[in-house]
Amino acid sequence: MDNVVDVEKNFNSKLEKNDFVEPKDWMPENYRKHLIRQISQHAHSEIIGMLPEGNWISRAPSLRSKIVLLAKVQDEGGHGLYLYTAAETLGASRDELLGALHTGKAKYSSIFNYPTLTWADIGAVGWLVDGAAIMNQVMLQRTSYGPYSRAMIRICKEESFHQRQGYEIMCRLCFGTEEQKEMAQDALNRWWFPTMMMFGPPDKDSPNSEQAIKWRIKRETNDELRQKFVDRTVAQVEFLGLTIPDKNLKWNETKKGYDFSEPDWSEFYSVIKGNGPCNKERLEARNKAHSDGAWVREAAIAYAEKKKENILAA
Ligand code: 3HC
Repeated sequence: MDNVVDVEKNFNSKLEKNDFVEPKDWMPENYRKHLIRQISQHAHSEIIGMLPEGNWISRAPSLRSKIVLLAKVQDEGGHGLYLYTAAETLGASRDELLGALHTGKAKYSSIFNYPTLTWADIGAVGWLVDGAAIMNQVMLQRTSYGPYSRAMIRICKEESFHQRQGYEIMCRLCFGTEEQKEMAQDALNRWWFPTMMMFGPPDKDSPNSEQAIKWRIKRETNDELRQKFVDRTVAQVEFLGLTIPDKNLKWNETKKGYDFSEPDWSEFYSVIKGNGPCNKERLEARNKAHSDGAWVREAAIAYAEKKKENILAA
């Protein structure tokens, strides 16, 4: 068995050479734990994220928009599966990960604890929330853990359709009637700052970022991605003829980017502690879906066991 110095040296040289760390490679225990924490919470975010949008499938304003929204929500479920599978390559058990979610122990993205009140919210979620998720996930395609990076490459392809779907809804509303444009502005007003919180707390208050950058799990920091998101989104808002609900938003020629107001971080910490508008409803719906689906899991396991028996008996 290689001694610890060699395996540690080998792990570090993989990071330096931007090689992937693979499931069978030696890795520091805290690297493995950090990844299980982040990947599982990412997976939880994907499946909880199905709820606010699923809420509008039966009320989509046309057959086409219903089909598009159905496809998007189905994609999110698939993203969750890719990510739970990536977490399992680190030795985590699916049941434990889901147990942590269902008992409120594990986090998921704060953004999904806000209600989708109108059809314009479905536009804002696709455009802003998936847009922010893409910003973060494109960066994670370069993460050091192989299975996570490969899941990101697949997810980013589908995420781009999600963002376009949301932006198309916003375009229809903004270039529609006055009332429709007001709905779009109302949605932007309610989703702008919670979307900025998706990138995580300011770097100075982020306990995980420094180590994540050292291990090349994160390749850009929370603040860097938030800045990128604002800089990329302002032009889209202007095209829609809407106004970002931030009076401090101003182009800064020196930094070649926008200055903007920080989100209300006390609201952020309150939401991730479970006191957001929809936290309770989301966990109830998630727990109900899990128990309603128990028979499917049992049937699939029984079928797999029977199949295995038949193969062994042959
Ligand atoms: N919501 C909930 N919790 C959050 C959060 C948010 N928006 N931002 C940060 N946190 C939590 C972190 O999980 C951490 O808590 P923990 O140590 O108990 O896990 C704590 O706040 C401090 O934050 P850090 O910045 O120190 O934590 P990280 O280094 O993990 O950075 C992150 C946070 C940027 C969210 C990072 O975990 C990450 O990049 N995760 C992967 C991407 C992801 O999960 N995106 C969520 C949205 S997915 C999505 O939107 C689906 C799309 O299809 C719509």
